[in-house]
Parts: sequence; C-alpha cells; structure tokens
Amino acid sequence: MAIDKIEKRIIFSSMAVMGLFVFSLLYAMKKYKSNVPECLPYDKAYAEPKVNKLDDKTYQVFSVASMWQFQPAEIYIPVGSEVDFYVTSKDVVHGFNIAQKNVNMMAVYGSINKTTVKFDKPGVYDIVCHEYCGVGHQNMHAQVYVNY
Ligand code: CUA
Repeated sequence: MAIDKIEKRIIFSSMAVMGLFVFSLLYAMKKYKSNVPECLPYDKAYAEPKVNKLDDKTYQVFSVASMWQFQPAEIYIPVGSEVDFYVTSKDVVHGFNIAQKNVNMMAVYGSINKTTVKFDKPGVYDIVCHEYCGVGHQNMHAQVYVNY
C-alpha cells in the first residue's frame, strides 16, 4: 500500500526539523565550548574557601556561598588560566553565575557542583548570585581578576 503524498511530506519535514535541531545543538556545543557542570560527592575539604594553584595556568577555586557572600570574594589569576570551580553553600540555595563565561550553577548545601572555565582575556569577571536567597541577595557577588 502506497504512502499518501501528504503523509510523506509530513514525515520528511519532521525528519528535517529533527536534523536541524541536532545540528544546532552540536553547533552550539562546539561554538560555545559548553562545559556541562558536574555534581560531585560531598567532601568537607571543599567547604573551606580556597584558591589552589596547581601550576602557572591551572587553578582550583573552592567557592563557598552563604548569606550573603561568596568566599573567596576576590580571586586573582593570570590570563590564560583554566579554573576548576567547586561550589557549595553553607546555608540556603544560592546561585553561581558568571555571565561573561556562560556559567550558570547552583550552590547547594551538602553538595559540590563543579565546572571548568578558561579565562583567556584579561578583565574583571563578576560572580553573581542569581537565585533569590533573602534580603541581601542583590548584594551577593564576587570577582575574578584576570591580569588585573
Ligand atoms: Cu545568594 Cu541570592
């Protein structure tokens, strides 16, 4: 039994839309080098705010969010550095957003969220809490100084 012409067209166009969707997704991943954040098992070591220098261009930042600040509040790194951010919270759920770097995570008590960011341009990068967390929410931020 032959397939109706209109039916054929519908099948073809839905496949085309699917193809376009997959293509756009792969293209965006390549273009924006999207780095999918990971959730790590909780470890007390990460709850201690810290900047670890692993080598000249590799750093670890243990960022601890609490009402209403991030610690460390100022992070100084040289241009070209790759930074692993390990993010947690001491109290309620906070946000962890670096808009200039397409970073969008949550800081959650009892959990460690990790993402890696390469800072290849000098400047000041804002880390902003973008999850409402109480009266001090709008003042909750930190800075990454790259060659500054
Ligand atoms: Cu922390 Cu909003």
